[in-house]
Amino acid sequence: MAYHEPVEELQAIDRDIHRALNSLKEEIEAIDWYHQRVVTASDPELKALVAHNRDEEIEHACMALEWLRRNMPAWDAQLRMYLFTDAPITEIEEGAEGEEADAADPAGRGDLGIGSLK
Ligand SMILES: [Fe+2]
Repeated sequence: MAYHEPVEELQAIDRDIHRALNSLKEEIEAIDWYHQRVVTASDPELKALVAHNRDEEIEHACMALEWLRRNMPAWDAQLRMYLFTDAPITEIEEGAEGEEADAADPAGRGDLGIGSLK
């Protein structure tokens, strides 16, 4: 939870972003720990209990991620591009760049005075 820059130079929103990022990191770490316990526990009831806990941590991580999406525009842009898609993940950005170019230049004239988007 340490700051990398002088804390007095960080605004309140930046401190909250730091808190949210750390919360997300902690939730993801907990998901990993619980998941390892799920797959290694021998007692079925304990296995179910830690699976429940793991899935609660996934909920917490998603809540932190949603707060970040609402408060850091780059998260919003990236999540909108990558989440709930079916294309090969490494090809999504290329496809989106093509769509952005189409949207910016729907008539396909190729000259909007904003330079190439590719
Ligand atoms: Fe949690």
